[in-house]
Amino acid sequence: MKKALIFLSLAVSVVACKQSQEPKNETADMYEASELSQTMRDMVEYSKLVREQIRNDEQVSPVPEHIWNLKKAEGTRDEHLEDAFQALADPYLEALKGLKTGDSNAYYYSKSIAACKACHSSYCGGPLQVINQLGL
Ligand code: HEC
Repeated sequence: MKKALIFLSLAVSVVACKQSQEPKNETADMYEASELSQTMRDMVEYSKLVREQIRNDEQVSPVPEHIWNLKKAEGTRDEHLEDAFQALADPYLEALKGLKTGDSNAYYYSKSIAACKACHSSYCGGPLQVINQLGL
C-alpha cells in the first residue's frame, strides 16, 4: 500500500511538470515561466544551435552566460533547492565545459544531452520527447 502511494505521488509529479510545458495557447500569456523553465527553454535553443554547428562542422557558439547559473535558477516547485537536482545538474554543466574547449564537440554535446535525460528521468518526464529529438 505504501509503495503504491509513493508510486502515485511520483506519477502525479511527472504529470504536473508535463502540464507546464504544453504547446502555447491563449492561456500561455498568463502563465509566467519560472526562472528555471526559462533557462531550460534557452538550453533547448542552445542545444539546437550547437547540434546544427556540429553537423555543419562549424565553430560552436559560446554557452550563454546565464546557463552557467542553472543550479541557482528558481524552479516552479523550488526544485533548485533539492540535493538531487543539484547533483544531476553537475554532469550537464561539466559537459558544457567540454564544449567550451572546442575539442571533441560531438562527444561533449552527446554527454550534455545524456545529462538532460538523466535529470528528466528523475524529475519531469514530459520534456523527454523534446530531449530525444536533440540527438546528433
Ligand atoms: C538537473 C536537472 C535538469 C537537467 C540537467 C535538465 N533539466 Fe530540463 N527541467 C528540469 C526541471 C526541474 C524542470 C521544471 C522547471 C520548472 O517547472 O520550473 C525542467 C523543465 C524543462 C523543460 C520545460 C520548460 C518549460 O517550458 O516549462 C524543458 C523543455 C526541458 N526542461 C528541457 C531540458 C533540456 C533540453 C535539457 C538539457 C539540455 C534539460 N532540460 C536538462 C530539470 C533538468
